[in-house]
Amino acid sequence: AVLVRRQMRKSGRWAKAMAIVKELEDNCGTPITRLHHVAEAMTVEMHAGLASEGGSNLKMLISYVDNLPSGYEEGLFYALDLGGTNFRVLRVHLGGKEKRVAKQEFQEVSIPPHLMTGTSDALFDYIAEALAKFVATEDEGSHPFPGRERELGFTFSFPVKQTSIASGTLIRWTKGFSIEDAIGEDVVGELTKALKRIGLGMRITALVNDTVGTLAGGRYNNSDVIAAVILGTGTNAAYVERANAIPKWHGPPPTSGEMVINMEWGNFMSSHLPLTKYDQALDTESLNPGEQIFEKIISGMYLGEILRRVLQRMAEEAAFFGDTVPPKLKTPFILRTPDMSAMHHDTSSDLDVVGKKLQDILEISSTSLEVRKVIFKLCDIVAIRGARLSAAGILGILKKLERDNVTTSRGQKSVIALDGGLFEHYMKFSASMESTLKELLGEESANNIVIQHSNDGSGIGAALLAASHSSYLQAPVS
Ligand code: GLC
Repeated sequence: AVLVRRQMRKSGRWAKAMAIVKELEDNCGTPITRLHHVAEAMTVEMHAGLASEGGSNLKMLISYVDNLPSGYEEGLFYALDLGGTNFRVLRVHLGGKEKRVAKQEFQEVSIPPHLMTGTSDALFDYIAEALAKFVATEDEGSHPFPGRERELGFTFSFPVKQTSIASGTLIRWTKGFSIEDAIGEDVVGELTKALKRIGLGMRITALVNDTVGTLAGGRYNNSDVIAAVILGTGTNAAYVERANAIPKWHGPPPTSGEMVINMEWGNFMSSHLPLTKYDQALDTESLNPGEQIFEKIISGMYLGEILRRVLQRMAEEAAFFGDTVPPKLKTPFILRTPDMSAMHHDTSSDLDVVGKKLQDILEISSTSLEVRKVIFKLCDIVAIRGARLSAAGILGILKKLERDNVTTSRGQKSVIALDGGLFEHYMKFSASMESTLKELLGEESANNIVIQHSNDGSGIGAALLAASHSSYLQAPVS
């Protein structure tokens, strides 16, 4: 009788757990009609953001990049790429039309977490020092213009209101950074001051978002590139807009007739987004409540955390892991997206990887295969929602440019440069994103749209833009 009672209690819990899974699945649903609504809403918000300052959640920031790399860029340039948990310093030897990127070297440095929420000076001092060390490794004689200051392209992947190609003020932080005294400051000024403090003479000739850098790097290799999307710690997109389609731009009309727009699509919001109570709680408890809602359901910083929140609820309300809630499960951000990805790609019949991750990260031992299967399914629900929504975002851009169907695009090829750790390493995510985009476009139109992985394009792109905006030489126009 005891056994029967125990069994019944267990099946009651199991039923409760399955109800939670079912509810999540329903609330994360992304049927194709919903995705079309999301894409349309994205297009509408793009128009609104271009029409006036503050006209939309989409900031549609003007990048001051009105000429993308031509291929003629020449010389030795540096780039600094700051935007996630790591930053990179790069040295790029540009060899002109023939030799192209003749040589590139880089170094990656992780940012100590306390610097992400400290002071502006502390962060920029740290960066400046790493840069100085890297510059010191330059081969003697490789600087083509001895006596001149070295030039640097600065990829700063946060929302910035640019005031020129090489200056701009920080609007706000995203992705877990929160440094109050930097908001409203010119980030190029902050970096320049830090370089001065350590006596490193360097000139910052371009300030770009990672999406803009990726677009520049992508265009350098393929002239059909019209947009760039980052799926990494955060998510965002940039694209080439016609200057006369930007009512809020009151500057001189660019000779190219074009302007790159940094959408900051991470802050996109629409009633069509499938949001759950887990997303709402995550947002409320985040460093930037009410902001970056699209980013919070798509990008690498958050997917693992959403999964953790679902598991915590299942542990609390359905005793999913036994009578007590595993203590580690209560720690925010303990479950990282790369771990979630590893579980989601587990192909072993007894889901060994899932079991091992639960053990190693959450200290939950000897889980049954049934339990592991449920966790696998949760990974799928959360990741596929994000992947499909990012495809809808891309469709929104293509619609804005009237390149989403063969008739209006008149057969032109449209290449989208993609980069970021989520895209690069979470294969089920990228595969779903790509197949969803095809599904949304339909077979015929999909033939003209190409997704191109632009590996580390944002750093090279910044170096290229530093070159084309060099204060010493004017790159020949193609
Ligand atoms: C965040 C930033 C944005 C950046 C993106 C990808 O959304 O606000 O500027 O491009 O992350 O790194």
